[in-house]
Amino acid sequence: MAFTHTPTPLRASRAGALSGRIAVPGDKSISHRAIMLGALAVGDTVVHGLLEGEDILATIGAMRALGARITKAEDGAWHIAGVGVGGCLEPEGIIDYGNSGTGARLAIAIAGSHAFSATFTGDASLVKRPMGRIIEPLRRMGVQVLARSGDRLPLTVQGPDRLVPIEYRLPVPSAQVKSAVLLAGLNTPGTVTVIEPWATRDHTERMLAAFGATIEIETNSDGSRTIRLEGRPKLKPQPITVPGDPSSAAFPVVAATIVPGSEVTVEGILLNPTRTGLIDTLREMGADITIVNERLVGGEPVGDLAVKAAALRGVTVPAARAPAMIDEYPVLAVAAAMAEGDTVMEGIGELRVKESDRIAATIAGLKANGVEAEEGEDRMVVHGRATVPGGGTVTSHYDHRIAMSFLVLGLAAENPVTVDDTTAIATSFPDFGRLMTAAGAAFDTPHA
Ligand code: S3P
Repeated sequence: MAFTHTPTPLRASRAGALSGRIAVPGDKSISHRAIMLGALAVGDTVVHGLLEGEDILATIGAMRALGARITKAEDGAWHIAGVGVGGCLEPEGIIDYGNSGTGARLAIAIAGSHAFSATFTGDASLVKRPMGRIIEPLRRMGVQVLARSGDRLPLTVQGPDRLVPIEYRLPVPSAQVKSAVLLAGLNTPGTVTVIEPWATRDHTERMLAAFGATIEIETNSDGSRTIRLEGRPKLKPQPITVPGDPSSAAFPVVAATIVPGSEVTVEGILLNPTRTGLIDTLREMGADITIVNERLVGGEPVGDLAVKAAALRGVTVPAARAPAMIDEYPVLAVAAAMAEGDTVMEGIGELRVKESDRIAATIAGLKANGVEAEEGEDRMVVHGRATVPGGGTVTSHYDHRIAMSFLVLGLAAENPVTVDDTTAIATSFPDFGRLMTAAGAAFDTPHA
């Protein structure tokens, strides 16, 4: 992959037990949505605990380009002066979304619901990722889209004067596609309906309701959900506190589970049931995770995760659980490598179109470190072993979650694990190295 940055390799070695309290950054999904809905409200939205990773900085840039005023106050809170639904301005330049698929897809939908033209691009990873999944419903709503072959970025959207309110059944289990239709639907004169056959993360729905939109969610007898949003609401600014990201918490949680003697508490983590699949799975495998101090933060359930090292056994993770832990499979595979027996992960085809092909990248990383594993088109099988040899170098493909997962493996393997490039960690968890080191992790720069 042609990237212009200088790679930052990092090596993780077996150290003593991990201990202490870790506060991971704010949830990435909620942070994107807080900036976007703030930009579409009329007045000042204040956000505390925003993730200040590169993906969210890209969303701040995009919403500024569309007319919102966004500033950071001295107390660390972010203030967004919104333009109102339908009030975005035509961006002057091309919006570069860097590595963020979520940000790009949601912002394309917002821009596309306006009668102007906006052009989006991204880094070498993002321009390979499929955009057809949002282009198709946007076209049905009357948006003109001109994309590179294969429905890839760069692409240009040009909205009509009036969007068509559609009913859309999701063809893939994707919260991004659901959210794209809802966000474009905000600027339609009517009711937009999305039917999702699988429950995916529902932060867009929760936040739209909190901002005063009329949104109805019905769970059907077959488990599918029907979401109806009335277009052209006046969104009212809300104070938002972003809970800790469960997808970032996954790394210290798995590390504390597989490094013998560890005892770590990860504080203030979002426990929305559409995001807790990894905790359920690790517990089934024998992990010692206790949820303490449960509370509600901004309408979302939150708690602290008290984790002690434990012996794990392999399990079969059902396909139905995939949406609730879609970003956690690489680090689950690392836990599975240290478990007794096989772990089978089914129905995970979506992993092939993330920041990298995460099935291929995970299997290659495991094999490079002496762990046997097999891939199918939409499944992985990891053959756990009592001790993992390690000693390998893992190619991260500029994928933050691949990089962090294999650094976690290095903390428990017999020999150090090197990740070729950890630069992408800054997209979602800029403080990962510092926080993990403070808890006892041994990371260093490998010699060339
Ligand atoms: C996200 C949804 C997921 C996830 C991504 C964040 C979101 O993608 O992988 O990291 O914020 O909506 P899909 O909805 O495409 O599965």
